[in-house]
Amino acid sequence: MVDLRLRMMTDSDQDTALVVWWRNQPDARTLFFNTDVVTPDTHRNFIATRKPHDLVYMIEVDGQPVGMCALTVDVKAREAEFGRIYIDPEQRGRGYARTAVQRTLWYGFEILRLNRIWIEAFDDNRPILALYESLGLTLIEGQSREVNGRRTVFYEISYETWRLLNADTSA
Ligand SMILES: CC(C)(COP(=O)(O)OP(=O)(O)OC[C@H]1O[C@@H](n2cnc3c(N)ncnc32)[C@H](O)[C@@H]1OP(=O)(O)O)[C@@H](O)C(=O)NCCC(=O)NCCS
Repeated sequence: MVDLRLRMMTDSDQDTALVVWWRNQPDARTLFFNTDVVTPDTHRNFIATRKPHDLVYMIEVDGQPVGMCALTVDVKAREAEFGRIYIDPEQRGRGYARTAVQRTLWYGFEILRLNRIWIEAFDDNRPILALYESLGLTLIEGQSREVNGRRTVFYEISYETWRLLNADTSA
């Protein structure tokens, strides 16, 4: 069985090199809302200015980083936005994104006791939307905005729905 873990992203040389590499890939610059070129300095500044409620993770499989994702918590509303997920192009199609999203939803609902988790993505990003749909997130009708000249869509899942779909999930 695959040993997939999420750990907090750091400003170490290893994390910096990987994030700079991933974020500057052509697909990342098309699919992320922030299209700026990422440099070691901008990554280190990003890490240094993270607020405690912005949980930015490295996804590791058997101890090796394969991607990243984030959960940004609105403590007062007891909600969070999941996003900024990226799996190394050579590591795709192995279920790593699915497991990473499932783990993060579990953490958000069972540990942080959130009421709702939502995502926003470009409306033509079928791979990520197919993944979210398969995990039980549903489209928020009528909610959309324009980012970089393209339309986005919002999806959400409530704690109640998540519990119904994951009655046997303990971790
Ligand atoms: C989308 C992405 C995270 C998927 O990572 P992955 O580890 O390859 O995904 P998984 O192997 O866990 O696949 C999970 C599901 O995602 C969907 N999916 C993944 N790749 C897909 C593709 N090329 N086409 C259609 N659906 C796809 C499928 O529903 C798949 O489930 P299935 O295998 O049962 O059909 C990865 O392709 C990526 O990093 N893309 C670029 C970044 C991005 O779009 N981020 C989102 C910004 S909002």
